Amino acid sequence: MGAAPAGALLRWLGAGRHSTARAVPELWRASWRVGPVLTGTVLTLTLLLGLAGPVQFVAMGAVVGGLTADGAGLWPAVTFLIVVAAARTVLPVVVEPLTGELVRRIDLNFRNRMVACLTGPYGVAHLEDSGTRDLISTAQGIASPGQGPGSGARGYLNLIALKAGAFGSILLLAQYRWWLGLGVAAGAMVIRRHILAIWFQTAQALSGDVPGLRRSEYLRDLALRPETAKETRLFGLGGWLVGRHDTAWTTAMDPVWRRRRSIGWRMTVVDLAVLVLAALAGVPIVLGLVSGDLDAAQAVVLGGALTAIVGLGGFLPDADFPIRYGCLTLPSLLELEARMTARRNADAPAGTLPTVDGGRSGAPPPEPVPPEPAPPAGPLGDIRFDRVGFHYPGVDRPVVDGVDLTIADGSTVALVGANGAGKTTIIKLLTRLYEPTSGSIRVGDTDLRDLDPERWRRRLAVIFQDFARYELSARDNVGFGALDLLDDRTALEEAADRAGVLAAIRGMPRGWDSPLSRNYSGGADLSGGQWQRIALARALLAVRAGARVLVLDEPTANLDVRAEAEFYDRFLDLTSGTTTVLVSHRFSTVRRADRICVLDGGRVTEDGSHDELISLGGTYARMFRLQAERFVDG
Ligand SMILES: Nc1ncnc2c1ncn2[C@@H]1O[C@H](COP(=O)(O)OP(=O)(O)OP(=O)(O)O)[C@@H](O)[C@H]1O
Ligand SMILES: [Mg+2]
Repeated sequence: MGAAPAGALLRWLGAGRHSTARAVPELWRASWRVGPVLTGTVLTLTLLLGLAGPVQFVAMGAVVGGLTADGAGLWPAVTFLIVVAAARTVLPVVVEPLTGELVRRIDLNFRNRMVACLTGPYGVAHLEDSGTRDLISTAQGIASPGQGPGSGARGYLNLIALKAGAFGSILLLAQYRWWLGLGVAAGAMVIRRHILAIWFQTAQALSGDVPGLRRSEYLRDLALRPETAKETRLFGLGGWLVGRHDTAWTTAMDPVWRRRRSIGWRMTVVDLAVLVLAALAGVPIVLGLVSGDLDAAQAVVLGGALTAIVGLGGFLPDADFPIRYGCLTLPSLLELEARMTARRNADAPAGTLPTVDGGRSGAPPPEPVPPEPAPPAGPLGDIRFDRVGFHYPGVDRPVVDGVDLTIADGSTVALVGANGAGKTTIIKLLTRLYEPTSGSIRVGDTDLRDLDPERWRRRLAVIFQDFARYELSARDNVGFGALDLLDDRTALEEAADRAGVLAAIRGMPRGWDSPLSRNYSGGADLSGGQWQRIALARALLAVRAGARVLVLDEPTANLDVRAEAEFYDRFLDLTSGTTTVLVSHRFSTVRRADRICVLDGGRVTEDGSHDELISLGGTYARMFRLQAERFVDG
C-alpha cells in the first residue's frame, strides 16, 4: 500500500484531520515492530468486536420476527442472539489483556527511544538547549500526565471497533435504502469534526506553555527534593514557593481552563446536533413502517444500525480522550529523534559510530552493556591546544580566547585562575563535551575531531567539579568508571581503597550493594568528602581500565586537610604514566604539577613550573603568597 492511500486509511480509522501527520503512522509502525503478531491479533479481535454489534442487531431482528410470526423460528433466533451477546461479552475479556500488553510495549518502546536518542550525541550542549528541554518535557508527558503513546493506541483501537460497527451498520441500512447509512455517516462525520477540533485545541493548549509548566514543576520540586529542601526550609522559603508555584501553574494552565469553560456549551450544541441527526435519520424508517414497507423485525435491525452510526457523531470518551492526550507526546519525541540523529551524525567521523536504532526496530534494548574492546595501549602523544577559542551556544562572549597549551604525554599540568576564568570549560573542550568554535585540539598527530569519540572517551578518566552523585549502589557509583570492571570486585576494592573510601563502603548496611541515597530503603547517605572519594575511585577505576588522561577538576575541594595531604602524597603513585590535568584553587596541590597555566578571562597569561612562576613574580606568585600567608597567619 502506498503512503497516500495508507495515510487516507489511517485518517479514516481515526487519526482525523487534526492529528499530526507523522505521529500516527509512527504509532502504528512502532506497534507493528514491537509485536506484529500481537498487533495483528488485537486488530482482528477489535474488528470482530466492532462487527459483532451489527450482527447482534440482526439477531434481535430475528427474535422480533420470530415473536411476530407466531413463534416460527423463534428459538433458533433466540439461540443466535444469546451466542452473539455472549461473544460480545467474552471478546473484550480476551482483547483487554492483549491490548494492555500492546500498550505496555508501545510505551516502553517510546521511553527507550527517548533515552537512546538523547544519549546518542557525544557532547552535552544538546541537553542544555532550552528548546530541547521543552521537547523532552513534552515527550515525557508534562502536558498529558499518565497518557503515553500506548494510551493513544488504545484509543484508536476503541475507535476502530466503533467504526467497524458503523461500517457493518451502513451495510445493513443499505439493504433498505443504499443512501441511508451513508447519509447518516456523513452527517455524523460533519458533527464529529467539530468535536475533534474542540478536543484538539484543548489538548494543544495544554502543551502551549511548556516552559511555564516546567517552571512550575521546578518550583514544586524545590520544596520536595531533599537536596534543596535543606535550604528552602532554613531560608523560610515555604510560603514564597507556594505562592510562586501557584502563580506559575495558574498562568501556564489558564489557556486550558479558558478553553475548558467554553467546552460545556459547545458540547451541548454538538449533542443537540446528534439528536437532530438521529431524529432525521429515523424519519425514513418510521415512514417505512407506516407505509408497510418495513415490518417490526426490519425496523429493529435498522434502528439499531442507525444508533451505531449516529453515535459516532458525538464525543467518544474511550477513544477521543486517550487519542488526543496520548498522542500529545509523539510529535515532540519524533522531533527529538530527528534533532539528535542529526547531531550524532555531525559528531561522528564517517563510519566510526555504530548506529543506534533507539528501539525503533522494536527489539528489546540490550540491558547489560556489552564490554567494549579495550582502548589501544601505548602512549597517546602530547595534547596540544592551538589557538582554541570557544563560546557557549547562544552566548557571543568568548569564554576561551585563543588558548595555546601543550600538555606533554605523561606529565601533570595544573590550570589555575579566578572563578569564571574558563578552567572547567577547557576541560569540557578536552573531553569533547563541546567543540571549539575556533582553533583545534590535537592528540599526538590527530585532530580531536577526527578521533572516534567512543575511543577517546575510553582514554579519559574525569572527575568534574560538579561530579555526579548517582542514586544507585556503591558498586555502580564506582563501577561506572569502567563498565567492563563493574563485576570485578578486586578492581573495585582497589580503586575504593586508593581513594580512601573502602572502609566506608564496607561499613554500609548492604556493603557494595547499598544504594547511595536515603531515598531508597537500605540506602546510605554520604558526607560531601565521602562523595568526592567515591568520584575519585570512579576515575581511578577508569585509569585501571586503560584511561591515559586523568582530569581532576577540584578533586579535593571537599576533603579534610589530612585527607587532601594523603591524597597528594599518593598522587604521583596513583597517576604514574598518565597525563594529568588538574584544576585546583589549593596551591599546596597545584605546586606539585610539572607545569602550571594561569588563566585569566579565557586566556593563558602565565605558563611554567612553580619555581619559574614564583620567580616571575606575576599573578601566580601573588595568589600563592596570599594563600600561604593566610595559612601562616592562621
Ligand atoms: N553551560 C554554560 N553556558 C553558558 N555559559 C557558561 C556555561 N558554563 C560556564 N559558562 C560561563 O563560562 C565562564 C567560564 O566558566 P568555567 O566554568 O569554565 O569557569 P572556571 O574557571 O571553571 O570557574 P570556577 O573556578 O568557578 O570553577 C563563566 O563566565 C560561566 O558563566
Ligand atoms: Mg570550574
